[in-house]
Amino acid sequence: MQTQTLERMESNVRTYSRSFPVVFTKAQNARLTDENGREYIDFAGAGTLNYGHNNPHMKQAMIDYLSTDGVVHGLDMWTNAKRDYLETLEEVIFKPRGLDYKVHLPGPTGTNAVEAAIRLARVAKGRHNIVTFTNGFHGVTMGALATTGNRKFREATGGILTQGASFLPYDGYMGEHTDTLDYFENC
Ligand SMILES: Cc1ncc(COP(=O)(O)O)c(C=O)c1O
Repeated sequence: MQTQTLERMESNVRTYSRSFPVVFTKAQNARLTDENGREYIDFAGAGTLNYGHNNPHMKQAMIDYLSTDGVVHGLDMWTNAKRDYLETLEEVIFKPRGLDYKVHLPGPTGTNAVEAAIRLARVAKGRHNIVTFTNGFHGVTMGALATTGNRKFREATGGILTQGASFLPYDGYMGEHTDTLDYFENC
């Protein structure tokens, strides 16, 4: 497995590849293949758990869109792709459930969604503090990092303090004789 270039050139800001140092070359549905031809079932990739890797319907739709020179980078400007997406979301998900929701489209990472959720909660509640639970991982931007349970990630900020979160144990984490909900309510 050729990993020298990856180790030499990629910054140290990486996580999963440290514990799983293989080079993947192919992905189809639930399976990933590394460059030695070994197959793995992917239990981890966020979006791929829902749709699989290179889902054939999605893949074809993306090829069709690209082949028309559809806009891929549009900042937050309006595009026909965004309109089609919102109309489909409304027809398929919202209307059948009687939901009258606004949509916030963050950047394409988990941590962007977490940042948006934190801000929305703070504005809606008028309070600052976020409660976060044992060993949670929410991403590496500053707001999401403040709510990340694992100290190793929080300490990798170059000395900037992360603030605005209280850390509480999951149910059962303190043993069977401690009711963590009581603890939560009395904090
Ligand atoms: C639960 C959870 N939230 C947020 C994130 C951050 O996502 P991203 O790395 O796309 O910013 C992850 C990534 O592993 C995650 O597992």
